[in-house]
Amino acid sequence: MNNIFADNILEGKVAFVTGGGTGITGGVARAFAEHGARLAITSRKEENLASMKKMIEDNGGECFAIAADVRDYAAVENAITETVSRYGQIDIVVNGAAGNFLCAADQLSANGFGTVVDIDTKGTFNVCRAAFEELKKSKGQILNISATLHYLATPMQIHVSAAKAGVDAITRNLSVEWGRHGIRVNGIAPGPIEDTEGMKRLLPEALKEKITKKIPVGRFGRIADIENAALFLTSDAASYINGVTLVVDGGQWLLGTSLG
Ligand code: COA
Repeated sequence: MNNIFADNILEGKVAFVTGGGTGITGGVARAFAEHGARLAITSRKEENLASMKKMIEDNGGECFAIAADVRDYAAVENAITETVSRYGQIDIVVNGAAGNFLCAADQLSANGFGTVVDIDTKGTFNVCRAAFEELKKSKGQILNISATLHYLATPMQIHVSAAKAGVDAITRNLSVEWGRHGIRVNGIAPGPIEDTEGMKRLLPEALKEKITKKIPVGRFGRIADIENAALFLTSDAASYINGVTLVVDGGQWLLGTSLG
């Protein structure tokens, strides 16, 4: 439990978190539960959800785990319906489900590019769209997990860069279109976050020291850094913040140096 925020800032809220079983969004799900929210977590594979569900429940929280591929609109709709039938409402949606791998553009297949865009960009739209009526009722909010890769250019990441640029466009568009319904739509763009599966696969341990020197604050991010940003943006403290993608990267992207 982090003690920066009051324990009950999300009390009475229901949060629906895609990719909520592991990594950064798993941390966000756990932090939301620790601060009073009831959780629904989804992932493509049910087995990715079991340990997070147990962790939240062992900690006294409530967690509903349901498998759904965000690319499959019917599966997403079903997960939303099941969540509402269990909890009666949805107040917060976190779009964290994402696909990633390193691949040079001239080696990447059309299907490889499209797969990541389908998961990250279309998946984000699918979940927002399927949750809209519930968010309208609750005057809820959306938090889209993005990246900083596309602010400049990141070799080997054309697919993710394009996908996350699309996610940022969704954040801005929906903040304008749905703000009038009382729905706030924001994003978080994490920089390099240690102890995540993505970082382990994308960045060899041997490069860690070299990369640390390229991060202005002199350290990698931690999952807790993203949890804190997510708690802030979804709390009433941020009630006038809408359409923003908050960069949480220790200033890394401003140096304009690719990692690696
Ligand atoms: N390099 C190049 N191309 C790759 C690839 C890699 N490492 N991984 C997948 N692809 C390509 C496949 O070759 C395929 O294209 P093809 O049909 O032209 O060969 C296409 O992407 C789809 O691959 P497939 O494995 O069928 O898709 P999938 O839907 O099962 O899963 C991912 C694709 C991206 C989700 C999968 O690689 C994955 O599970 N990644 C882990 C998720 C993750 O990293 N999350 C944290 C994000 S930071």
